Amino acid sequence: MSSPGVFADLAAQRACWHPVAFASDVADRPVHADLLGEPLVVWRGADGAPRVMSDLCVHRGTALSLGRIHGDELVCAYHGWRYGADGRCVAIPQKEDPAVVPAKARVRAFGARERYGLIWAVLEEPRWPLPEVPELEAGEWVVVTAGPYRWRCDAGRQVENFTDFGHFPWVHPGLLGDPDRPVVPHHQVRTDGHVLRYEIVRPEAPNTDDFPVFGNEQAGLPERRSRYELHLPYTIVLRLGWGGERGMVYFFASQPVSADRCAGYVVIGRNYNTGQPDRVLREFEDTIFGQDQVVVESQRPERVPFDLAAELHLRFDAVAVAYRKAMRDLGLAAAAPTGISAPGLGGDGRLADTEIGQARCPSRHPRRSHRSRPARAPGATPTSPAWSATAAH
Ligand code: FES
Ligand SMILES: [Fe+2]
Repeated sequence: MSSPGVFADLAAQRACWHPVAFASDVADRPVHADLLGEPLVVWRGADGAPRVMSDLCVHRGTALSLGRIHGDELVCAYHGWRYGADGRCVAIPQKEDPAVVPAKARVRAFGARERYGLIWAVLEEPRWPLPEVPELEAGEWVVVTAGPYRWRCDAGRQVENFTDFGHFPWVHPGLLGDPDRPVVPHHQVRTDGHVLRYEIVRPEAPNTDDFPVFGNEQAGLPERRSRYELHLPYTIVLRLGWGGERGMVYFFASQPVSADRCAGYVVIGRNYNTGQPDRVLREFEDTIFGQDQVVVESQRPERVPFDLAAELHLRFDAVAVAYRKAMRDLGLAAAAPTGISAPGLGGDGRLADTEIGQARCPSRHPRRSHRSRPARAPGATPTSPAWSATAAH
């Protein structure tokens, strides 16, 4: 990507937890994953805990994910070098004494956790913990996963699509929106550190009998209350209610595979329809995400431009405006060193009655090199025990 402007800062996002796989897809064999452009191998040690390491054998650069797990070690497929959980090579079979290993024989090990049915990785000391979603861990709600939805765009585009109210009647008529009611209900976004909170109440869209997945039928009120938490950079906790006992938690996290690729993981918990086959919800999500994918992959640039002047924002785009502003304020998006940026209209986050941001030619604006990402402590190591595989929040 060479387009100028303000985009997600991949280096800054190394200090954020990201999903790299469904936990159920990591069993007794190593699995490859890409995160922020870095090739990773995900595997489980003898205790079942997840491990995440660089997927490059230090010997000849072979993908360690081609290898196999032996006890608490990962064995390279090419020459059988064995690696421990901390990334150190512990045995080189070609040597007369395999245990005598040079200090340089190691690969980078990263923080790893298993939670909400996902394996999470962090490439530097994390700035924030994972969101707390007790509904998904109490064991009383039925949990269904869907995805991963691998899209040709950055994770920001996928997250913003999830938060975009205006598109529901147009992209998901009859499923998430009603074409006869395109007006977005008023909502306000509260920015609380790295978490955006907002809620919306709207008439329930006609839900076709094809996908009877929502809990509105017997709750009595023909409206749905949606409470959102957007945990920067790419995780959303959405709680749906219909005024009764029925509740649904919709957990979404997008994996920033690279600057312009992502993978979205969906984990849904609910306390009703507990006997419904998982297939019904999965097919619903596949349909929704398929409808979205066509539209979002057509967007240019493929990455969210965090300069508010780069696209046109109206009042009902309040979430996107708050998201873009918070991402910049927290140093998670920044101007590329060689990029060109412009001060955004409405850059203080206040919404005007009509337009608050207007597309402008970026070449008309001065070069900008400021990077607001906070400096990281030199010498910080991803193998620090404080946040390694066994760390808990
Ligand atoms: S390339 Fe991995 S052991 Fe040789
Ligand atoms: Fe959508």
